Amino acid sequence: MSTTPPFETLLQTEAKEIETLLDRLLSVDVTADEITRPERLRLAMRHGVLNGGKRLRPFLVLQSAALFDAPRASALRVAAALECVHCYSLVHDDLPAMDDDDLRRGQPTVHRAFDEATAILAGDSLLTFAFDVIASPDTALDAAVKVELVLTLSRASGIGGMAGGQMLDLDAERESPDEAGIIRLQAMKTGALIRFATEAGAILAGASDDDRKRLRLFGEKIGLAFQLADDLLDLTADAATLGKATQKDAARGKGTLVALHGEDWARESLTRLVSEADDLLAPYGEKAGILKQAAAFVASRRN
Ligand code: IPE
Ligand code: IPE
Ligand code: MG
Ligand code: MG
Ligand code: MG
Repeated sequence: MSTTPPFETLLQTEAKEIETLLDRLLSVDVTADEITRPERLRLAMRHGVLNGGKRLRPFLVLQSAALFDAPRASALRVAAALECVHCYSLVHDDLPAMDDDDLRRGQPTVHRAFDEATAILAGDSLLTFAFDVIASPDTALDAAVKVELVLTLSRASGIGGMAGGQMLDLDAERESPDEAGIIRLQAMKTGALIRFATEAGAILAGASDDDRKRLRLFGEKIGLAFQLADDLLDLTADAATLGKATQKDAARGKGTLVALHGEDWARESLTRLVSEADDLLAPYGEKAGILKQAAAFVASRRN
C-alpha cells in the first residue's frame, strides 16, 4: 500500500479548507437582497470550481501569507478569489474556440456539462466574482491593501498576464515561437497567476519591497516550472491520471519547450528552476520550508 507523502497530505488538507470556503461563496445566499442569480449560471460556476483540482495556487497564497504572519482568514479569501480566476481560465481554455477539451479534472468540461454560452458566462462571472470577494467588506483588510491586491491580480489576469499569454499560446499553434517567445508566453499564461499567488502573502502582510520582489521572483520560477511540467505530462502521462486529455500539444502543433528541446532537457530545466526558486527563499530559513517543498512538488507532480 502506498502512503501519501506529508507534503501532499498538507496540500489536501488546505485544499479542503479552500473548497469549504468556495462552496459557501458559491452557495445561494439566503440573506441576499433582491438581486436575481440565475440558477443555471450559478450551477455552471460551481461545476467549474468545485470539481476537484489540486488547489495549488490557493495553497501558495496561504503559505506565502504564513511566511509573513499575515492574517489567515483574509488570506483564505484571497486564495479563494485567485482560484476563481484560475477556474475561469480553465473553463475558457477548454472551449471549442480554444483547446476544445471535453474532460477536466476527470469530469465533463463546463461547456459539455452545460453549453458553450453558459460556459462563457460562467467564466465571466467567476472572473468578476474574484474581485468581489477581495473587495467585499467580509475580507478584513485595510482598503489600501485590498486595492493593491485587486491591482496586482487584475494585471496578472489580463492582457499583460494570463489572457495575453493565452492569446500568444493560440498564435503559437500557427507560428512556431523561438525559446524566448515560448518562455514569454508561458510566463504570462501560467506564470502570472502563480506569481500572484506567492506575491499575495507579502502584499497581505504589508511586507517590505524586497520581500515582495523575492516572493514574486520565486513565483516566476515555479510558474515556469509548472507549465514545463504540464507540457511534459501532456506528452508522458495518461488521461485517467491527469483527468484531462493528453497528447494534445503535439496534435495541435503547439510550440512548447518540450517540443523544442525534448524530455531530457525539460527534466534538467525543472531541476534548475526548483533550485533557483529555493535560493530565493534562503533568507527565510526553516520558515520557508513548505514553500520549498511546494517548488519541488511543482516539478515532480504526477497530475
Ligand atoms: C492546469 O492547472 C492549467 C495550467 C496552467 C497548466 P492545474 O494543473 O493547476 O489544474 P488544477 O487546478 O489542479 O485542475
Ligand atoms: C492552460 O494551459 C493555461 C491556462 C488555462 C491559462 P494548457 O492549455 O496547457 O492547460 P491544460 O493542459 O488544458 O490544463
Ligand atoms: Mg491552452
Ligand atoms: Mg488546455
Ligand atoms: Mg497543458
